[in-house]
Amino acid sequence: MTSTLNYAQPLTFPNGAQLKHRIGLAALTNLQSPEKGKISEEEMRWMRMRAEGGCSIIITAATYITPSGQGFPGQIGISSDEQLPGLTAAADMMRANNAMGIVQLIHGGIRCPEAITGMQPVGPSDDSETGARALTLAEIDTIKSQFLDGAKRAQKAGFDGVEVHGAHNYLLAQFLSPIHNQRTDQYGGSIEKRAQLLLEITAEIRDACGPDFVVGVRLSPEHHGVILDETVAVYKMIIEQGVADFIDISMWDVFKEPADEKFQGKSLLSYFTDVDRGNIKLGVAGKLYNAQDIAKSIELGADFVLLGRGAIFNHDFASQALENPDFQMVERPVSREYLEKEGLSAPFINYIASAWPEYLTNP
Ligand SMILES: Cc1cc2nc3c(=O)[nH]c(=O)nc-3n(C[C@H](O)[C@H](O)[C@H](O)COP(=O)(O)O)c2cc1C
Repeated sequence: MTSTLNYAQPLTFPNGAQLKHRIGLAALTNLQSPEKGKISEEEMRWMRMRAEGGCSIIITAATYITPSGQGFPGQIGISSDEQLPGLTAAADMMRANNAMGIVQLIHGGIRCPEAITGMQPVGPSDDSETGARALTLAEIDTIKSQFLDGAKRAQKAGFDGVEVHGAHNYLLAQFLSPIHNQRTDQYGGSIEKRAQLLLEITAEIRDACGPDFVVGVRLSPEHHGVILDETVAVYKMIIEQGVADFIDISMWDVFKEPADEKFQGKSLLSYFTDVDRGNIKLGVAGKLYNAQDIAKSIELGADFVLLGRGAIFNHDFASQALENPDFQMVERPVSREYLEKEGLSAPFINYIASAWPEYLTNP
């Protein structure tokens, strides 16, 4: 029988690519690939269980486009052909499970500790807190081509597309931020200029990889100096320029009001759903812990949802929600042993234990 649940319906992206339904996996950095950014057995198992658990789109953990853009130990990379076999196996696995496979491309900018990269961090402008220095225009050109090479490598590996990480205060979000970006050249000043790098990278990927390759952009609307109405302006620029098939808004809570009092009185989500986005699809992430909230997100105007913690704690959240409209994520805290059964290995469990000890009975 065909399901009538709104999130069970297929979704067609502007380029014709299809999602089998509306529930996917958000990018989740998990520290499980310590060997030169090559996807490990552990990282593969983590992703495979989510693909087999029904996710219609799998976005990889943030994947560095150059070793100097690595922000976490055990992070996966797409900066060298050495990483291609693991990437190819991951893309094959996603296709075999009828899940759209997307690589999230990142440069961490000022958030790349020298202890990891062996290099002084770089960003839009000098930053006394992290010791980062401002990129030259020639270096910005190099980073643009590294994003492009990353996208081409993802395509070669057989992924359906990429998501350009413009969120969470990593390099492209640092360029968007009036606090981090003090440049006076074409990449600094007005929001149009601060968004230039993100837009150029996205457009170049679209041109180089062709219309069949899915291109997405992730934005986060607040915090780290990011201003909501500027994020909405960037969202509109992406829509107007038609450089992406989807925009993924990382909200940390899909139903919240904006943090900034100036914008309160309506939901954060409505700032995005109120904009005419034509055929470009809107994905959202943030505290979607049960099937009813997913249905509500779609009702409120999102096209699809991306699970973070829901899919950490229940690898088959998507399949369960498709079966049962009252499905709820497992109650926390859970044990380490439970997380191992859900496909997390020790580095990921330790990461969760240090960031959210309250999620574990034995952190
Ligand atoms: C452990 C962990 C790792 C994350 N790693 C990434 C990442 O690599 N890239 C990214 O864009 N967001 C990352 N996020 C944010 C998630 O993609 C998601 O937007 C956020 O967790 C909110 O969704 P949730 O409430 O369903 O967890 C991470 C979140 C968590 C909890």
